[in-house]
Amino acid sequence: MKKGALIGLIGLGLTLSGATAADYNDAAKMKANWKTHCYSCHGSDGKGKTKAGRKAKVQDLTDSKVQALYTDAQLLDQLKNGMKSTSGGELMKPYSDKMSEAEMKDLVAFVRTLGK
Ligand code: HEC
Repeated sequence: MKKGALIGLIGLGLTLSGATAADYNDAAKMKANWKTHCYSCHGSDGKGKTKAGRKAKVQDLTDSKVQALYTDAQLLDQLKNGMKSTSGGELMKPYSDKMSEAEMKDLVAFVRTLGK
C-alpha cells in the first residue's frame, strides 16, 4: 500500500530542468522528498507562490539574486540544522531527522537547477 502511494506521488512528476537523473544520488527519492517536505512552501517550481509560501514569506528560488545568497555548503547546513531569521524566529525546520545527508545534497542540487 505504502509503496503504491509513493509511486503515485513520484508519478505526479516534477520538471527537472537542467540536471539529469544521473546528477542525483537518487532522483526519484529527491522528487518525493521535495513533494513531501518542501513543496508546501516553495511550490513545484520553487517560486514559493503557495498559500504557505506567501505566509512564510519565502523568496523566489528561481531568482538569481536569491540563488547567489548562499553557497551549496550553506544551503546544506540550513537543511540540516534549520534556518532562523535574524530575530531568531524559525523560518525553516531542520530536516536531518527526516532524511539522509545524501538526500539533502540532492535537494540542494535540485534547488540549483531552479535558478537556471
Ligand atoms: C514552512 C515553510 C517551508 C518549508 C516546508 C521549506 N522551506 Fe525552505 N524556506 C522557507 C523560508 C521562510 C525561507 C527563508 C526565506 C528568506 O530568506 O527569508 C526558506 C529558505 C530556503 C532556502 C534558501 C534561499 C532563501 O530563500 O533564503 C532554500 C534553498 C530552501 N528554503 C529550500 C528548501 C527545501 C529543499 C525544503 C524541503 C526540504 C524547504 N526549503 C522547506 C520556508 C520553507
